[in-house]
Amino acid sequence: MYFLITIRPFEFDDSRAVLDMEEAIFNEPNPLLYAMIESRPAEGFIVAEEDGEVCGYLLGTLLMDEARILLIAVKDSRRRMGIGSRLVNEYIESVKGRASMIRLEVRSSNLAAQTFYFKLGFRFIGMVSNYYRNGDNAYIMVRPMENFTLFL
Ligand SMILES: CC(C)(COP(=O)(O)OP(=O)(O)OC[C@H]1O[C@@H](n2cnc3c(N)ncnc32)[C@H](O)[C@@H]1OP(=O)(O)O)[C@@H](O)C(=O)NCCC(=O)NCCS
Repeated sequence: MYFLITIRPFEFDDSRAVLDMEEAIFNEPNPLLYAMIESRPAEGFIVAEEDGEVCGYLLGTLLMDEARILLIAVKDSRRRMGIGSRLVNEYIESVKGRASMIRLEVRSSNLAAQTFYFKLGFRFIGMVSNYYRNGDNAYIMVRPMENFTLFL
């Protein structure tokens, strides 16, 4: 079957869909997401839409020359169809020329996401112990942009 997916900026009307998806996937409300929605960021917040329905989202920030992916998720039923990659690639394009790298944290137990990021050019640069509320560690991954060389 063929699915037509559009990647576009987040709009305030997407809030309910994004919050519902976040809670369904991560099993708890995310205060950061509420705060970001309230602040109505002008950029860095994008969604994937299929037939008028939000099926994925990515929230990123840019501070000085460091971009960060804070949140990304794709609806269960729409995974492994390239939607997550399209969201990340769209974000990479949007910070090109302004960011020297994109950084993110990923739960050490989240092998699926680590594989996903690795395929998109992110590399492991370190680990933060007890990063998550339940004590899980976070791996830090970085994707260098064109003017940045990783000494790894
Ligand atoms: C991580 C996530 C966003 C990936 O989205 P997606 O749309 O399924 O990703 P893609 O279809 O673009 O996958 C691209 C590649 O990443 C890798 N990948 C993605 N999901 C994977 C999995 N579950 N296991 C192993 N590799 C995986 C594969 O190499 C895949 O290519 P392939 O399908 O041709 O083999 C999605 O699994 C998700 O929402 N997970 C729950 C939320 C989450 O963990 N977010 C990250 C928090 S840091």
